[in-house]
Amino acid sequence: QALTTKSVSYESPSNIALIKYWGKHGIQIPKNPSISFTLNNCKTTTTLSYEKRSEPGDAYELKVILDGKHKPGFEPKIHQFFGRIEAYLPFIKDYAFTIETSNSFPHSSGIASSASGLSALALCLMEMEREMQPDMTLKHFKQKASFIARLGSGSGCRSLEGPIMVWGEHADVDGSSDVYGVQYPYQIHSVFDHYQDTILLVDKGEKPVSSTVGHNLMHNHAYAASRFDQAVENLSRIIPILQEGDLDGFVTLVESEALTLHAMMLTSNPYFILMKPNTLHIIDKIWEYRRETGVPVCFTLDAGANVHVLYPEKDKEAVQEFIKNDLSKYCQDNRYIFDNVGNGAIKL
Ligand code: PMV
Repeated sequence: QALTTKSVSYESPSNIALIKYWGKHGIQIPKNPSISFTLNNCKTTTTLSYEKRSEPGDAYELKVILDGKHKPGFEPKIHQFFGRIEAYLPFIKDYAFTIETSNSFPHSSGIASSASGLSALALCLMEMEREMQPDMTLKHFKQKASFIARLGSGSGCRSLEGPIMVWGEHADVDGSSDVYGVQYPYQIHSVFDHYQDTILLVDKGEKPVSSTVGHNLMHNHAYAASRFDQAVENLSRIIPILQEGDLDGFVTLVESEALTLHAMMLTSNPYFILMKPNTLHIIDKIWEYRRETGVPVCFTLDAGANVHVLYPEKDKEAVQEFIKNDLSKYCQDNRYIFDNVGNGAIKL
């Protein structure tokens, strides 16, 4: 590497929405507010190396290396991202970049790496900007980093901090914004400390409908307006649930949100289904287990067939036994990932 090459590294996690973002307008502006748990173990580590170009051209100069291998196939997506952010970080055309990235979870697992990957890259780019503007406040840094991450991956704007993030303007959430995610500003009951999320890998195949297409199908959707209102209402409802540690209220709200997300897919035009038979088997088993034991374990889903199993830390031993004995057989190759709620990205 030339002496003039500098580098910066971040690791940034994935996140799982409790109240779902589904439907957008403009450039990744959400049609409704969302709230998520930041994850801990599922994360991307990115090193951005950069050196001044001797002759800046119109095209960006960048190279993507995934797990030590050059991946030209990923570069068009980053070129497109750079095109979106150049208005806000104009220096990017003056540098040649190497983006070295790796994920803690297997790429073929069906876990999206876009939220963790784009938030890690956004933070690295913001670190370059901070070097040029040393007076930048921490508040500005965080807001703009989340804003930049949003332009790459909508839900990625909720990965920067933890344990809970809100994205989308909401009258009850101070400081909330449509253009960046913020740390949830209110009290969270200790039952939610180190809340557990086990991701059951039901299907690692390519999704038949991408989330971009799914979001767009919320335009002209018969139930869109009432869905967006419902998400706003649910965000008001989750505030006392989080404050009081109301686990029954939490279970009901979170499962309803997951099923509503998929109900929107079932009722889109054209309609589509991302759940698999094993997704439903798992849901059934979780309900049976909850009925029989009273343990407040619940599920949520993202835009795919995998199931996130959420439960309090104090029930970890029992629920993990249940997962190994009764749920793992519904996973592809018996694969699942134990994760828990974390505190967001860190500079390495
Ligand atoms: O950020 P996107 O465009 O991949 O959309 C994410 C949508 C959901 O995961 C289904 C919900 C959410 O809020 O994360």
